[in-house]
Amino acid sequence: MKRGFFITGTDTGIGKTLVSCALLQAFDHKGVSVGTMKPVAAGCEKGIDGWQNDDALQLMQHANIELNYSQVNPVALPPPIAPHLALEASGVIVTIKALAAHFEQIKNSADYFIVEGAGGWQVPLNENESMAEIPKALGLDVILVVGIRLGCINHALLTTAAIEQSGQQLAGWIANIIDPEMLMIEKNIQTLHNQIAAPLLGTLPFMRGKAVAAVSDKLNVAPLLGHT
Ligand SMILES: Nc1ncnc2c1ncn2[C@@H]1O[C@H](COP(=O)(O)OP(=O)(O)OP(=O)(O)O)[C@@H](O)[C@H]1O
Ligand SMILES: [Mg+2]
Repeated sequence: MKRGFFITGTDTGIGKTLVSCALLQAFDHKGVSVGTMKPVAAGCEKGIDGWQNDDALQLMQHANIELNYSQVNPVALPPPIAPHLALEASGVIVTIKALAAHFEQIKNSADYFIVEGAGGWQVPLNENESMAEIPKALGLDVILVVGIRLGCINHALLTTAAIEQSGQQLAGWIANIIDPEMLMIEKNIQTLHNQIAAPLLGTLPFMRGKAVAAVSDKLNVAPLLGHT
């Protein structure tokens, strides 16, 4: 792997998966190999080979290397609840070290990796660790998806401050318009643009229906590939 990215967001349900799929597609269009991982997923349905999460399945559809389901999503928890509670309910303890060991096995199968977190930045994994420790342990830079809606400025600035405080690198952020009724959308994005030092990699419009192919060209992945 040349470089990998951990996709976090200002909240749950604000477009991390959609943006991750668009990033996978944008990397594919650049002609590079790109793999994916959803380390921990809560909210799964029974598939042929066990529990499967829709985010992981969507990500797999947009990666351009072959990985099997359990390689992409090693921890698949049935109930759609906070991951540490789902783990507690199933009596399983997952550590950052175990996730890093898993990633070691797959990370050299592609030049780039898009790894989607769960929920927002500071989601607990177990009693002592949180998802915020994943990027450092897996050697990933962070990309923040800001779900553009009222309240997002506070959520975005709190998240960028926490990322910075953790000593991890914010490679860029993406404005994803999830509330088309919001007033002064452009000015809100401009405010964030002025206050977040990392590059704005793109603004995704509100869309009816899923249209990843249509939005991947709105993302500027050149800074992520190491050339401008
Ligand atoms: N720009 C957009 N326009 C319209 N709908 C969107 C947009 N972005 C995301 N959505 C929709 O919002 C919902 C949540 O998006 P998504 O699943 O990508 O969020 P998430 O942050 O990955 O959520 P989770 O925390 O569950 O992983 C989905 O139904 C998705 O299609
Ligand atoms: Mg998701």
